Amino acid sequence: MSLLATTQLKKYFGETHAVDGVDFTVTQGEVLALIGSNGAGKTTLVNVISGLLRPDDGTILFQGADVTHQSIHDRIKAGIARSFQLVNLFDQLTCLDNVALSIFSREGKTQRLMTLADGDRAVRDEAMELLQQFGLEAKAGMVASGLSQGERKLLDVAVAYALRPKLLFLDEPTSGVSTREKAPIMDIITAIVRSGKITAVIIEHDMDVVFKYSDRIVVMHQGTILADGTPNEIRTNDQVVMTLLGTHA
Ligand SMILES: Nc1ncnc2c1ncn2[C@@H]1O[C@H](COP(=O)(O)OP(=O)(O)OP(=O)(O)O)[C@@H](O)[C@H]1O
Ligand SMILES: [Mg+2]
Repeated sequence: MSLLATTQLKKYFGETHAVDGVDFTVTQGEVLALIGSNGAGKTTLVNVISGLLRPDDGTILFQGADVTHQSIHDRIKAGIARSFQLVNLFDQLTCLDNVALSIFSREGKTQRLMTLADGDRAVRDEAMELLQQFGLEAKAGMVASGLSQGERKLLDVAVAYALRPKLLFLDEPTSGVSTREKAPIMDIITAIVRSGKITAVIIEHDMDVVFKYSDRIVVMHQGTILADGTPNEIRTNDQVVMTLLGTHA
């Protein structure tokens, strides 16, 4: 059974058919790359699946249960988390507190948000351990705005990972970082995802990254799925090559 399955999912913005009848499945344990040119509908698809946007039509099954009309909060509880194309951090809080906030919210301890990490030893320890996994332990006490772009992207993934998801959507985890920084970031993320037996969907434009790190690739184009296959199948798919090169030369 698929971990996630959408059926004829649709999200229109006026005349723009951002997601136009998408049947998208994710299998337990895979690292799947979601690719496609700018405006293909990748972020919108993730926004609809994660509950940030309501679909106009279609259904979303997660672990066999219909979550189409569930709140974001209920979907997070069920095990769906995501990071953002533009990071979603509290810039004036430390790295430790950014992660701690996510742990507090996972545990429904919202009344304690103001005490932050200092007030709760268990949360502080868990947050430190997470930062360590992401190679950010030396930055624990630094405010998020003081980080490099690569570190900010990693912290944003750590914040989503702290929710302990079963299915983690990462919207361009290496966007805005130098080519040199991409591999180290992807090495850290995929090692954590695979060792934690988490299923991940990674939106990514850099094809070297996509081919190196994913088990399967789904290609979107103009709101629909153009192709779905292994890295080798996608690499040799003429229609995909034409479409991506046509807009991404
Ligand atoms: N809130 C919105 N209101 C109106 N149009 C939107 C909105 N969000 C997205 N769109 C449009 O929907 C289409 C799909 O956008 P989306 O952001 O999902 O693409 P994408 O594949 O993530 O692109 P990119 O690679 O540039 O991030 C685009 O034409 C975009 O302009
Ligand atoms: Mg996008």
